[in-house]
Amino acid sequence: MAFFFFFFFFCNRKLKKAVLSSAFLLSVPSRQRCPQAKGLESLANLVSTVEETPDPIPTTIKGTIPSWINGSFLRNGPGKFEFGEDRYTHWFDGMAMMHRFHICEGNVTYSSRFLRSDSYVQNSEKNRIVVSEFGTFASPDPCKNIFERFFSRFQIPKATDNAAVNFVKYKGDYYVSTETNYMRRVDPQSLETKEKVDWTQYVAVNSATAHPHYDREGATYNMGNSYGRDGSFYNIIRVPPPEEKEGEDSAELNGAEVICSIPATEPRKPSYYHSFVMSENYIVFVEQPIKLDLIRFLLYRIMGKSFNQIMVWDPQCDTIFHLVNRHTGKESQVRYYAGPMFTLHQINAFEDNGFLIMDMCCGDDGEFIGDFTLENLRSETGEKMDKFYNSLCRTLPRRYVLPLTVDEDTPLDQNLVTLPNCTATAKQTKPGEVFMTHEELHSDELLQYGGLEFPHINYDKYNGRPYRYFYSCGFGHVFSDSLLKMDVHTKELKVWRYPGLYPSEPVFVASPKATEEDDGVVLSVIITPREDKSTFLLVLDAKTFTELGRAEVPVNIPYGFHGVFNEMG
Ligand SMILES: *[C@@H]1O[C@H](CO)[C@@H](O)[C@H](O)[C@H]1NC(C)=O
Ligand SMILES: *[C@@H]1O[C@H](CO)[C@@H](O)[C@H](O)[C@H]1NC(C)=O
Ligand SMILES: *[C@@H]1O[C@H](CO)[C@@H](O)[C@H](O)[C@H]1NC(C)=O
Ligand SMILES: [Fe+2]
Repeated sequence: MAFFFFFFFFCNRKLKKAVLSSAFLLSVPSRQRCPQAKGLESLANLVSTVEETPDPIPTTIKGTIPSWINGSFLRNGPGKFEFGEDRYTHWFDGMAMMHRFHICEGNVTYSSRFLRSDSYVQNSEKNRIVVSEFGTFASPDPCKNIFERFFSRFQIPKATDNAAVNFVKYKGDYYVSTETNYMRRVDPQSLETKEKVDWTQYVAVNSATAHPHYDREGATYNMGNSYGRDGSFYNIIRVPPPEEKEGEDSAELNGAEVICSIPATEPRKPSYYHSFVMSENYIVFVEQPIKLDLIRFLLYRIMGKSFNQIMVWDPQCDTIFHLVNRHTGKESQVRYYAGPMFTLHQINAFEDNGFLIMDMCCGDDGEFIGDFTLENLRSETGEKMDKFYNSLCRTLPRRYVLPLTVDEDTPLDQNLVTLPNCTATAKQTKPGEVFMTHEELHSDELLQYGGLEFPHINYDKYNGRPYRYFYSCGFGHVFSDSLLKMDVHTKELKVWRYPGLYPSEPVFVASPKATEEDDGVVLSVIITPREDKSTFLLVLDAKTFTELGRAEVPVNIPYGFHGVFNEMG
């Protein structure tokens, strides 16, 4: 039983490294469709350690930052890649750094702090890497002899609390999150690190994604795995809205519950997932053919072998869509499935006339993360960098349509999707089984931007509802080199792109008097490897996708993952 409680860590994290080797075996249609790149510049400066800026510093405003924007843009990502002489090998191992752009009355200040995770604190004390991360094996004691080192491999690795992926909210509190059972609560104003929160103390799950959903009553939904004698389960978790708190620090995740447990199709081979969708009434979980082989995991661990082969990209397997009513926790009896694919980030889902429409960023193979070692990312301009980029699978937005009213009267082998202008299909192939094909949610124009990831919508008003626009990053390089606005009705793109500038995930902020979906601004942090200390916060008019203003920050910021806008200051 014991190992079931630690491998979730590798289950969710090792796999990212693992997928790449198996995926080389495949032919990749979406990769072939995107143009190959040549002469890509070095990104080494974007994955270098930086200093923290704990006290807010002023920025230089160019253009105009709308005075109605009041709050802070919070971002997370790796910011420290070595301790003393020791270096991390993998980009994901970098120590979490939190960034805050506080925007008020047209002015912007910037501050940043490293998360004081247990990893950070212990490594700092010893001035070397003493805590293993995803891609870096730390020897607890370098003075141990060879036999001691050999046996130390048997020790059960602990999950990391180096939560470098996102800012998430539960019961009104902010946490930073990765994909283990640990989160750290943080103060969104001072960026101070607060208590470590362990999911396993609240619900029977061993992990939670870094991409929860929020309903309009303030509840948070997330998903996490559990493992037991009778197999592996994907659990949907609900954390209730904030109530009256007794003490400031006591709320945490009390009241969290598992509302649905979905057994893994192969009990010893659960799939990896990074996010899910939520509509007004449903949650859809995509069980994709990227699987962790639990038996091999154990064997490889004991033999001290590489983990690259424990993840199996299994294109013989279909992708299964699990449809769950989020009010009752009941899973639909209908089995929805589609061909093999992989997906990291979902865009949105909504119900329309008896259909559930879901949009997501997809690729055709499992090589989605690639070997994001710091060595690869720090390649000089030249063949090696081009080869690395061209080996990555580009992801493109797709739409799937799930018919919600399938019963014994539903005909077989006939397209059930009757929505106007929709080319997605869904056919009942056997009673209770629906096979779907997708609609490409883009025109060919997108291919020249290298596909897209990091989608964001006008979340507060449009998540789970019919919507028209999403914002995202185009990946014309290993790191995103454009910002894109997609109109899902017309598939027209609006683009912000300048050579040498690398934008972060775009976050939409609605204007206070918004009537239309895109009344507001889009915020993104722009960095460049070409000049030192030339970072800026970019503010785009969300409607026209043109620049309103920027706030120049005289510091370097490394390339990061996700962020949020906190309107509470
Ligand atoms: C904004 O910056 C301007 C110029 O530095 C300054 O005069 C003004 O007082 C600032 N406003 C606020 C609210 O800080
Ligand atoms: C369907 O597509 C046509 C042509 O692109 C367009 O004129 C029409 O408005 C669309 N209808 C709907 C319901 O979106
Ligand atoms: C900005 O928001 C904070 C928190 O909601 C509020 O206390 C403050 O008064 C607001 N400032 C302005 C200028 O509206
Ligand atoms: Fe993500």
